[in-house]
Amino acid sequence: MKLLVTGGAGYVGSVNAAHLVEAGHEVVVLDDLSTGHADAVPEGARFVEGELSEAAGPLLAEGFDGVLHFAARSLVGESVEKPELYWDNNVVRTFRLLEAMREHGTPRLVFSSTAAVYGEPEQVPIPEDAPTRPTNPYGASKLAIDTMITSYATAYGLAAVSLRYFNVAGAHGRFGERHAVETHLIPIVLQVAAGTRESVAIYGDDWDTPDGTCLRDYIHVDDLADAHLLALQKAEPGRHGIYNLGSGRGFSVLEVVEACRTVTGHPIPARVAPRRAGDPAVLIASSGRATTELGWNPTRTALETMVGDAWRFAQDRLPV
Ligand code: UFG
Repeated sequence: MKLLVTGGAGYVGSVNAAHLVEAGHEVVVLDDLSTGHADAVPEGARFVEGELSEAAGPLLAEGFDGVLHFAARSLVGESVEKPELYWDNNVVRTFRLLEAMREHGTPRLVFSSTAAVYGEPEQVPIPEDAPTRPTNPYGASKLAIDTMITSYATAYGLAAVSLRYFNVAGAHGRFGERHAVETHLIPIVLQVAAGTRESVAIYGDDWDTPDGTCLRDYIHVDDLADAHLLALQKAEPGRHGIYNLGSGRGFSVLEVVEACRTVTGHPIPARVAPRRAGDPAVLIASSGRATTELGWNPTRTALETMVGDAWRFAQDRLPV
């Protein structure tokens, strides 16, 4: 297929673009490099540097079989402080993308949605039909887009899939996570192991969980990419499929730190800090729908596998 990958110079986008190229698809990456890196675009993909709502239309006029839409702002804290960035970058620009797809008859869309659409869960594991009550503008912006996509599938026959990621981890060879502002647990802990950070702060050890620290459902970015390839194949005209992507089990913050100690051999000093505003105690996916309907089975579910791949990626990037 000829595929447009928006945000294909970012973490999840670049790993997916690499998998798509490896699977033999013709890939065009569109990224404005606001948070992505030009050298993260895989060999074999064409790279267009440009702003989504301006560049997507002229590109799609060439004729594409589908779009994988990763381009977005994705920091929860930033979304609370500067919500306008999220309504503009995520919602307004995705609306322009959908309009460009409609104008040029692009038949398929796979969209990066998030567990953040559910907010504080009432039940865990979280099924796709759980109430969607996002607790921050980031989650709200992704939920607004999911709603928009459903309406385009119904009205215009778009074949659409939203994949709601839980906590993405790991790396794919030279493609991995390198944010200017790092807020995610595993890369922060690995910075301590790499010597660029002194210690890790554990945001609360008095949660109602077995060891008092928050539980999250970590999913390897390669397993995520497998789901995107399946979603492309299984997308049906006029239907918007929504799927949670997680491994179905929770790891605590302390378990993550311990796995990082095992993988890196570094003692990784940790200190307890106050709870971070907006963190739910437990986020675990029910991914049964993706297994049943897409035939997806995550296989890199061991914490050591995810941390090990992220560590190899981080080490390759350290100055020698
Ligand atoms: N944590 C720490 N110390 C840190 C960083 C994180 O203790 O320095 C804890 C957090 O409190 C949380 C866990 O580690 O309990 C994981 O935190 P991350 O920031 O890595 O990930 P989140 O669970 O906050 O974020 C994920 C997705 C977001 C999504 C959010 C929904 O990465 O995209 O879930 O709540 F919006």
